[in-house]
Amino acid sequence: MKEITQLIKEKLEMAFKEAGIDEKYAFVSLSNRPDLCEYQCNGALPAAKEYKKNPMEIAESIASHLKEDEMFASVEACKPGFLNLILSSEMLAKYVNGMAEAKVAFGFEKDPKQKTVIIDYGGANVAKPLHVGHLRSAVIGESIKRIKRFGGDKVIGDVHLGDWGLQMGLIITELQERQPDLVYFDESYAGEYPVEPPFTISDLEEIYPTASGKSKADADFKAKAMEATAQLQQGRAGYRALLKHILNVSVSDLKINYDNLNVEFDLWKGESDAQPFIPDMVQKMKDDGYAYISEGALVVDVKEETDTKEVPPCMILKSDGASLYNTTDLATMVMRQQEYHPDSIIYVVDKRQELYFTQVFRCAKKTKILPADTELVFVGFGTMNGKDGKPFKTREGGVMRLSALLSEINDKMYEKIRENATMTDEEAKATAKIVGLSAVKYGDLSNQASKDYVFDMDRFISFEGNTGPYILYTIVRIKSIIAKYGQDASAYSILPAKSDSEKALQLELSKFSGAIRGAYEEIAPHRLCAYIYDLANAFNHFYHETRILAIEDEKVKGSYIRLLELTRDVLSLCIDLLGFEAPERM
Ligand code: ARG
Repeated sequence: MKEITQLIKEKLEMAFKEAGIDEKYAFVSLSNRPDLCEYQCNGALPAAKEYKKNPMEIAESIASHLKEDEMFASVEACKPGFLNLILSSEMLAKYVNGMAEAKVAFGFEKDPKQKTVIIDYGGANVAKPLHVGHLRSAVIGESIKRIKRFGGDKVIGDVHLGDWGLQMGLIITELQERQPDLVYFDESYAGEYPVEPPFTISDLEEIYPTASGKSKADADFKAKAMEATAQLQQGRAGYRALLKHILNVSVSDLKINYDNLNVEFDLWKGESDAQPFIPDMVQKMKDDGYAYISEGALVVDVKEETDTKEVPPCMILKSDGASLYNTTDLATMVMRQQEYHPDSIIYVVDKRQELYFTQVFRCAKKTKILPADTELVFVGFGTMNGKDGKPFKTREGGVMRLSALLSEINDKMYEKIRENATMTDEEAKATAKIVGLSAVKYGDLSNQASKDYVFDMDRFISFEGNTGPYILYTIVRIKSIIAKYGQDASAYSILPAKSDSEKALQLELSKFSGAIRGAYEEIAPHRLCAYIYDLANAFNHFYHETRILAIEDEKVKGSYIRLLELTRDVLSLCIDLLGFEAPERM
């Protein structure tokens, strides 16, 4: 199904041609005066310049061509040369019926050329607990993944674990101090290592912060940890075996956490998986003359003439030969290119890493790790702040763990929902979890990703205003009206709107494909949030003004139910693309 704006544009193009004006001026936009019209075309103004005519004359001539058209209830030329358009209720009803009857996706047309897109998000660091900083990457990345997939792309989500840094050496060193007799530390040992890990996830969660604290106070300890990291990276067998244990234990815990967030990865690769690709990559960079030694380190220049800020060289290897975060990201590209030949790779990472990604992207293109036409996109997100405007902390001022944040939200939501006396305790708990997640995710996604935002728990969990629970509440309300109706309305169709509020609701519904297209092309989940907020508002307005079930005429009632079903389905689909779902009641 064509987008509604496309249909309007085609009509305008015909009218422009008939009026002897180039159709390139037939552009249509949403009205910025919704009190006057629904859509508008301002093309007569620039056209007047080219044709040296009065814009009002052009607008009037076009209006006269369109006046009789069944698509419009009214076409008005307004000073100084605007065209104000109001759709006919018949045409609009036909369009939304088409959406309701479409076999897939309410008539949304997928991009016919399927692109392979890798989304690098989550980015949790192994053995360190997830904190709220990781929340944004997971929430935004998951939604981008779903939107891209819905738009027709072949999408691969990769968590890209941080599993190759100093934290590994810290854990190994601390473990060695506690249990020096473990076989992993015996360099002469040549047998198989135990299958059972020598620690649990709660051990790890305690070992890492202890070791990290020690390394800050004790230079000796830190040197040992760095040495252990280097030995691990060089392949010391006992350390590699420990890394495997750390990964296994940590990943099963991460899976539970991401599961609670409704976040799912196709790949659980980490920085360590890219290691085998490093030697050849580095050799090729040297052979091709891109990499050279500067102050002992191996670097590639990535500055460009047009730079307004300095972009330092991309460091490939440190002077001691050790690999860096950069090296791993570049080697990961080598791996991704070999395995998937992606058309596009999207990185959802804290925006403070922007310069870093500029360096890495340029280096990858310059050294031909990736073909010139592979699209590399950095979706940098802002900081999640507390109500004081500073980065979000616990009440005690420490780093807030993600699990703690989620259980706090769930508890508050549970209190709210328990007020609904008809629910069993069990149902209230399950519902609180669903609604709580919508609060967290919508609170994040409704902001443009690159902006900082204030995590305001009380606002986010409110059932009113621009919140996730408000959207869910709207869906639940619709479901309950449909349940009360209790019949099959599929024989009815949506009738032309009989009131302004009904027309406004149908208009919002008709914008569905455009909203999806916008979110898809701009990689912008917040566009979807804005759309469903408008749609939910339009529905609630209609609901307050209309006797839906009390109306006598069965055809009208059936038409309302069909309209409600479509609203429910569009809202449900959109929240699924945002990464949450609605309960049966709340
Ligand atoms: N682990 C990193 C961090 O916590 C994020 C990883 C982002 N992705 C990437 N390909 N570098 O900061």
